[in-house]
Amino acid sequence: MKKYIVGNWKMNHNLSNIEDFFSSLKIEGAQCETWVAPQAIHVPHLIERAKGTNLKIGVQNICEHEKGAFTGEISVTSALDIGATFCLVGHSERRSLYNEDDDLLNKKVHTALNSGMKVIFCVGEQLIERQNGMTNKVLKNQILEGLEGIKPNSFQDGQLLIAYEPVWAIGTGEVATPEQAQQAHAHIRAVLAVELRLETKEIPLLYGGSVKPANAEGLLSQKDIDGALVGGASLKGDDFTKLTNII
Ligand code: PGA
Repeated sequence: MKKYIVGNWKMNHNLSNIEDFFSSLKIEGAQCETWVAPQAIHVPHLIERAKGTNLKIGVQNICEHEKGAFTGEISVTSALDIGATFCLVGHSERRSLYNEDDDLLNKKVHTALNSGMKVIFCVGEQLIERQNGMTNKVLKNQILEGLEGIKPNSFQDGQLLIAYEPVWAIGTGEVATPEQAQQAHAHIRAVLAVELRLETKEIPLLYGGSVKPANAEGLLSQKDIDGALVGGASLKGDDFTKLTNII
């Protein structure tokens, strides 16, 4: 299985910060996939800027429809057309701030996979859910609802990835322990295999939530963790580089 370091820049960086990122990025010899999702308005610029590097560029969100009268949305086919290779679907900020529910997310996953866009489908429990012992149940529901109707033969190796991002660890500095993350990843693999009958060795599982060079080693060495989805620490080229050396 390939390994992945994926940056989610959220709504950060201007053109000058992007130059700073590239000036300290050193990923020529990286043994893993290196992906970044900048804010949508910077995607064409990043694709140009990343030419000649190993960096692949994606979008943080897509519309569930391919095209039409959907003001302000991002078409997956247009994103592919300009050279974006992957999209995030179901990030917790989309779920909580923009009310994206499981049904909508399921449509987005289908639209992306049908178009040939790689999808990182994000799941994760809230703090209160973990405290109430509901983590496994929440993850199972998000996966069953979000991936409903996805057939084992409807995607190729590495086209569908899942990111486990406990909501309480996103942007908080509080990271899941390697044991907590491994336990959740093993559960996700079991749900994919048993409930959806998907070939889990073809579905990379990424951990996300306050990953940085100082805490990445323990997480990335876990058996069921194939990479990281990184917010804050992916904004700096040297931290991004360090993560690719750790994995
Ligand atoms: P963080 O964000 O690394 O800043 O916690 C992760 C994410 O939201 O994907």
